[in-house]
Amino acid sequence: MFESLTAPPPDKIIQLIQKFREDPREQKIDLGVGVYKNASGITPVMEAVKEAELRLWNSQTTKTYTSLVGEIGFHEVMIKLILGGSIPRDNIAAAHTAGGTGAVRMAFEIIKLASPESSVWISNPSWPNHRAILKFINMNIREYSYFDRDSRSVDFSGMMSDLKDARPGDAIVLHGCCHNPTGSDLSYSQWEELAEFLLERKVIPIIDFAYQGFGDGLDEDAKNLRMIASKFPETLIAGSCSKNFGIYRERTGIMLAVVQENKTKSVIQSVLSSLNRLSLSFPPDHGARLVTMILNDDELSVLWREELEATRKNLQDLRVRLAGELRDLTGSDRFGFLASHKGMFSLTGCSPEQVVTMREKHGIYLVGDSRINVAGLNEDSIPQMARAMVNSGM
Ligand SMILES: Cc1ncc(COP(=O)(O)O)c(C=O)c1O
Repeated sequence: MFESLTAPPPDKIIQLIQKFREDPREQKIDLGVGVYKNASGITPVMEAVKEAELRLWNSQTTKTYTSLVGEIGFHEVMIKLILGGSIPRDNIAAAHTAGGTGAVRMAFEIIKLASPESSVWISNPSWPNHRAILKFINMNIREYSYFDRDSRSVDFSGMMSDLKDARPGDAIVLHGCCHNPTGSDLSYSQWEELAEFLLERKVIPIIDFAYQGFGDGLDEDAKNLRMIASKFPETLIAGSCSKNFGIYRERTGIMLAVVQENKTKSVIQSVLSSLNRLSLSFPPDHGARLVTMILNDDELSVLWREELEATRKNLQDLRVRLAGELRDLTGSDRFGFLASHKGMFSLTGCSPEQVVTMREKHGIYLVGDSRINVAGLNEDSIPQMARAMVNSGM
């Protein structure tokens, strides 16, 4: 029977990682993989996480099941981190999910359960898993323009124009900050204009919030989302601790469903429980426990914030340096966008042929859509990167 199955297409980023591993050149640079790396090319375990693991090892007495939506203590710290007191607690339903991906999937399933005919709008381009999951669960997918390839910034008028086709009950995926793959975010006033427009059209926002703390800071990055959650009758938020706590493999994420009507909250809370029950029974616990311990402890919390801030500053610094190096080489500011993009990624906008030249001639690995992860650079490799970009005709 299994011969009737067709193998899904191979994941392009995994293929790229494999190619990179097999490349014998010493000066090769990996800008493909979507994880943070320090100047030595390592994705470190944060000190605060290490310390929390030690404390947990010493204090944990059981590993019996938790609740279907995970530990309430984890919900509380995450609600505070993400929503920062902007919403009354009684209006928030929460479930611990298997990473941000689990939360994104849950958000889509909620829309499907509530209104299977609705369309889910995603940005063009977006994190490829948005489309893949929506397709897998058979949802209607619509795309809105997002990126202006000339200016390498948000095509806000194109976005607003496409969204005129949105119908009441449709949902829209918005990246809370540090848009993946473009690195280009809406300004606050654009978020406000978009919010008014979507409210009028009764479109439900799904905020994918995978990079809190990587853009302008923890609270700054949450500002747009908090405004949305306080205005809309219903908002879904998919949070992730993978990047900002560096606990990628622990699969720690959270689904927050914010409602303005208290009576809907208990229904949605039960739906969250049931969705976890149907997919994993109980969410993975270890990462959530570390996050809870860190955020509830003053000393660990300060340490974690310092480490996250250092990460954020390093990303910003790499951006400014690369843009500066390119300015010196080209005598123009056409790569200035690299310094104003946020988070780990930038869509450079170069052609597929240039992506191949970068890889084959210069040993620099970009994702096929021309995305770079600036965390793959360091002080020493920036001049090499800038020269290769210019030599490849970017
Ligand atoms: C936009 C976006 N959303 C969600 C995720 C999910 O992250 P995770 O499932 O590792 O928490 C990612 C990870 O790359 C992402 O880039």
